[in-house]
Amino acid sequence: MRSHGCGELHTADVAVTLCGWVHRRRDHGGVIFVDLRDRTGLAQVVFDPEQPGPFRLAGEVRNEYVLRVRGQVRPRPAGTENPALPTGQVELLVEEVEVLNRALALPFRVDDPPPHEATRMRYRYLDLRRPELQERLRLRARVNAAIREFLAGAGFTEVETPVLVRSTPEGARDYLVPSRAHPGECYALPQSPQLFKQLLMMGGMDRYYQLARCFRDEDLRADRQPEFTQLDIEVAFMEEHAFLTLMEQLIVQVCSVALGLELPLPFPRMDYAEALRDYGTDRPDLRNPLRLIELSELMQDVELRVFADAARDGRVAALCVPGAGLSRGRIDAYTEFVAGHGAQGLAWIRVEDPAAGRAGLQSPIVKFLSESVVAELLGTCNAKAGDVLLFGAGPHQRVNDSLSALRDRIGADLDLLEPGWRPVWITGFPMFAYSAEQQRWESLHHPFTAPAVEAPQQLLDDPGGCSSLAYDLVLNGVELGGGSARIHHVQMQEAVLSLLGMDHEQAEQRFGFLLEALRYGAPPHRGIAFGMDRWMMLLSGCASIREVIAFPKTQTASCLLTGAPTRASAAQWRELGLRTLPGVGNAP
Ligand code: AMO
Repeated sequence: MRSHGCGELHTADVAVTLCGWVHRRRDHGGVIFVDLRDRTGLAQVVFDPEQPGPFRLAGEVRNEYVLRVRGQVRPRPAGTENPALPTGQVELLVEEVEVLNRALALPFRVDDPPPHEATRMRYRYLDLRRPELQERLRLRARVNAAIREFLAGAGFTEVETPVLVRSTPEGARDYLVPSRAHPGECYALPQSPQLFKQLLMMGGMDRYYQLARCFRDEDLRADRQPEFTQLDIEVAFMEEHAFLTLMEQLIVQVCSVALGLELPLPFPRMDYAEALRDYGTDRPDLRNPLRLIELSELMQDVELRVFADAARDGRVAALCVPGAGLSRGRIDAYTEFVAGHGAQGLAWIRVEDPAAGRAGLQSPIVKFLSESVVAELLGTCNAKAGDVLLFGAGPHQRVNDSLSALRDRIGADLDLLEPGWRPVWITGFPMFAYSAEQQRWESLHHPFTAPAVEAPQQLLDDPGGCSSLAYDLVLNGVELGGGSARIHHVQMQEAVLSLLGMDHEQAEQRFGFLLEALRYGAPPHRGIAFGMDRWMMLLSGCASIREVIAFPKTQTASCLLTGAPTRASAAQWRELGLRTLPGVGNAP
């Protein structure tokens, strides 16, 4: 239908045919200008009254009409060139025009999207006409192509695993799909291909990958969608160092090929305990120079009860916010902010003259601290005139959560982040965390993660003290991916399932197929999964993964464009042998 793309007009004196949308129409009395848009860009097309047919039609076209135009390319008259546009030196003088389709008046201008994301999602096909959004999807496609090229070159096989699977919850709630052939029974949509990729290793596939769609019915946030894509990888017979190095090379090459972005190699590694100690989180943003300063030992015996108690049973730590001094108003705002993260208050000290000891400080708490504690505190924090110390004191997790959130907030508020990309592997996670609510151990990663001990009995003897062979990749404070060495001995897998509260019968009932496969010669294997949406969000500088997904869902997991989910008809329920409870959905 066309000879060129709209964004490809560069040379004068050629005859071309273009197809595209009316981006803008300007009626200059004598002549009508239309900016015609397609995926390649914009072209200025000119309707001259000397061509009365096309000129008349041009008078009728409106924004987003779809046109096909044929004519001659000519240089724009001197002084009317547009250097901001790649095609800004030329224009097309139209000889023939065809209106391929009309458009209603749009709910928003394509080049001026509304602030309400809901409106953009409702009309996603219009939103998608914006070049930024298209470019993000093209970036995704380039990244996918680069991934496939790298992994194929490294001997990996792309394998598709099923989407209708057995429900084996991995942490989030499953999406269930009722079976018609087996009334009363359900499939689940996979939260990840975890068990299938392990079974592929047991099947001898050796190196597997998949760009896999995963489904989790969990509370949604800016970096979570109910369905999302993982780059899912598994290998047999590979040590951790070799595997993580290969993954680093993959990421570096993909970023370089698809984006021209150079990441520093090798990626640093950080122990989980160190991450919590220095950043209060296992997802530290290393661009932020602030660190949590450990003060529990120093505060053991101070007069200030909240500090002394926390120092003994929990944690006391501080952030030393450099320079310029925070205003009282800001400290008050931060006090409110940490309260939202569970902290009971935010003690502070403004350092005016560090050499003057207590007399050089301004603070409501300093009267409860001795000269010697103050001297050591200022030394430990390396505090300078103008700095403000902000303290967290209480149970470990509360201090970590509130100070790490505050660290992020201050980093953004004071513009402290260094530019660039700061990847880091976090390793040495504990195997389990104790859930007071469930009164049992829970896996920190998933139940198939190998522990750092050889014998099941060692694990059973001290589950809380045992670390796992898991690793997470964090980039600029975002968890991009996670994985681990897997359990490949059945006795160890049984021990883990029993620690998770499953007796032999329950374990066989839920994971019998895996336990059986482990008995038939399972090789040592390990793997990882990267969150593609998060990766694309970071690379394209977006604040939400919805911006890098063609048709995203809302915070309540609905699709505003198609109206999903919808009610099933009475006939559909009947066919499935199901009925909703009275008062729910379309129940009678
Ligand atoms: P995990 O649960 O850590 O590991 O998931 C891997 C990565 O997937 C991304 N991710 C999400 N992205 C968008 N929306 C979500 N709801 C969402 N949930 C997770 C994150 C995360 O790091 N089977 C294991 C991997 C393995 O052990 O190999 C797994 O799924 O970036």
